[in-house]
Formats: sequence, structure tokens, C-alpha cells
Amino acid sequence: MQEPHGGALVNRFYPKEIDLEDANVINVNQEIADDIENIAHGVFSPLEGFMCYNDLESVMDRMRLENDIPWTIPIILDVDPKTIEGLREGDTTFLMHGKSSLLASIEIEEIFSVDRKRLAEKIFGTKDPSHPGVKMVLGLNDRFVGGKITLFREAKREFGKLLLWPKETRSIFKERGWKEIVAFQTRNPPHMGHEYVQKVALTLMDGLFINPIVGKKRKGDFRNEVVLASYEALIKNYYPKERVILSILCTSMKYAGPREAVHHAIMRKNFGCTHFIVGRDHAGIGNFYKPYDAHKIFANFPDLGINPVFFRSFFYCKKCRGVVNEKVCPHGEEDRINFSGTKIRSILKQGKVPPPEVMRPEVAQAILKFSNPFIE
Ligand code: ADX
Repeated sequence: MQEPHGGALVNRFYPKEIDLEDANVINVNQEIADDIENIAHGVFSPLEGFMCYNDLESVMDRMRLENDIPWTIPIILDVDPKTIEGLREGDTTFLMHGKSSLLASIEIEEIFSVDRKRLAEKIFGTKDPSHPGVKMVLGLNDRFVGGKITLFREAKREFGKLLLWPKETRSIFKERGWKEIVAFQTRNPPHMGHEYVQKVALTLMDGLFINPIVGKKRKGDFRNEVVLASYEALIKNYYPKERVILSILCTSMKYAGPREAVHHAIMRKNFGCTHFIVGRDHAGIGNFYKPYDAHKIFANFPDLGINPVFFRSFFYCKKCRGVVNEKVCPHGEEDRINFSGTKIRSILKQGKVPPPEVMRPEVAQAILKFSNPFIE
């Protein structure tokens, strides 16, 4: 069985009724609430809470925690200074997310500030505020609280029936007798390129773990329910069900390209996967990253403990009459139909079905059932 990142699966979930009378409570937003649950259920193992200053610095500078374990994306709790007035290091306070009814506590180990511009530049490789991740970091409060969390009451959430935690996926993998499990990260409905990377990988492995991100994405991306419905249609019509698991991952997209690819791999390692698919421009946006930057970054992590499976871009070749990539196709650019997300979105926006070389008709139909498939 795949070892969790850092050696042990973290559990910080201890269901309990808490009397909040007179207690200090900090209200957190959806993204922080997601982080809390992911920490509590071991998705972010070995993290047991929100990062303190030294870990954050080390992640920014070395892409590792202070103890040398690979880690590329900050998991931090920003707070409005007013809400922590009177709180000191060593105190415990409560964290709530009203809408979802989540309740947790944090043992405050450290209260600190960081230069948010520097943080953004380190993580996203740019200071450009048109990058959604940079914009998000620049908009954070300028106080941060680090320390271990304990989750007492889980969030009520949408799409809960498709949610599995690492403990559950690990036991399913074991039950099914899968040894080699390849994970696929996505934020989009599947086009033929997505299907091919998954199927080529599955050909060599025991099982495929399709793990779409359900969480904050940028304007113009597909809505979460659309991604899920489109995958259900694809699996129903084109996948061997006994070799595939579809489960959601509740976290926001950061659009941090290479650094996020490593983070995506670490989370899937915690779910028990042994391999992780990294294709073209993984977690990229616009032209901020080069198409294969997210492949190169893995060279820094011989100790990652999950195997990246790299794919060059798939396209449809009219001469090959199939979905191929440059490693196997000898024909030229003029014979190719590329799977451009922008083009697919523009066809769907007109209520039309993209050509079958690009997208399965059943997938397109599932998307077109929604009156507006896009985030506004
Ligand atoms: S991402 O932001 O989650 O990376 P997306 O859902 O489009 O976006 O991609 C999911 C995975 O499929 C990523 O690893 C990405 O690199 C890969 N991918 C997307 N399109 C292609 C393609 N045409 N060929 C090969 N891999 C691809």
C-alpha cells in the first residue's frame, strides 16, 4: 500500500458537540473551510494545521517544509487583525464556516505577517495581478495564524455523495486488490485528449482514480456540477466501471502551474495513488507557464514518493485517424485537430456539439443540459 506523504496519514477529525458560549470564534471563508477539512482528513498529510512562518518561508524558497518534506503550495490561514485582537500564541480559538456548519479549533502556535507580493511571486512566478492566484494572494489579510487544527463538525456540502477521503479510497483500493493506481487531476469536462491520457495510463495500471477539483475556479471555467455530470456520462458510456473511481477533491484551483502539479501529486499520494498524470500545461493559465514546465519541476523531487506519468499533448490526427501525440505520430501540423479548451467552450456556448474527434457526443450532451455551464 502506498505510504502517505511524510509517513503517516493525518487524522485531526474528532466529532464532538462544542459549547461555543463565550468562546472566541473566527469565521472563515469557503476556501479555508476546505483546507480545514483536507487537513483533518489527511489529504494534506503531513500537515496537521496551518503553516507557521518557518514552514512558509521554506516552502517559498525551497519547495519543502522545514523538515525537508517536499511541499510547494502554502496552506495558510489569513485573518483580519481585529478578529484576533486579544488572542496570543498558546491560545486556542474556534473556526467556523457558517454556511456549511463546519466547526474546528486551532491551537495558535504563531501569529505572523508576510510580504504578500513576495509570496505571490515565489509561488506563481509572476507579480502580474491579472494572474488569478496573484490576485488572490494580494487580497489576503496581512495577519496569519499558524497552528494545529481539530475538526469537530464536518461541513455539509454539495456533491457529498461523490466525496471520498483518503482513508476511504485506501480501503477501496485494497478491497479491489489494486496495487498500481494512477490519479488524474482535472478542472474541466473531458475532451478526447483527457480520455486518451487516462486510458493510456490505465492500460499499464490496475486502476484509475479520476479526481476533479470542486472548489473555487475562475470566471469562464466550467461549473463544478457540469464537470461531474460530464464525467458521469463518459464513464457510463466508455469506461470499464470496475477499473475506475470518480471522486471529488474539494479545494480551490490556484493556477500555479508547475508548483501546483507537485501539490496535486502529493494530495493523490495521500489518497493512496502510486502514479500521477501530468500532461500539457498542467494547472496552467494563459501563457504564464511553458507547456512542459510542470514536467520539469518533478526533477527536484526524487523523494516525492509518487511517480509522475508525463504526457506530451494529445491531438486528433486525420492521417492516423485517431488520437495520438507527437511521440507516436509522424504527420504534420496540417493534419492535426488540437483540443483547444477555448475553442470547445466557444462551440458549447453556441449550444452546439463539438466534433466527435474532439469530444464524445454523450459528454457534450451532458454539458448542454445545463442552461449555463460556465462560471459567471
Ligand atoms: S488542470 O488545470 O486540471 O490541469 P485540465 O482539467 O484541462 O486542467 O487538465 C487535466 C490534466 O490533463 C492535466 O494533467 C493536463 O496537463 C492534461 N491535459 C489536458 N489536455 C491535454 C492534452 N491535449 N494532451 C495531454 N494532456 C492533457
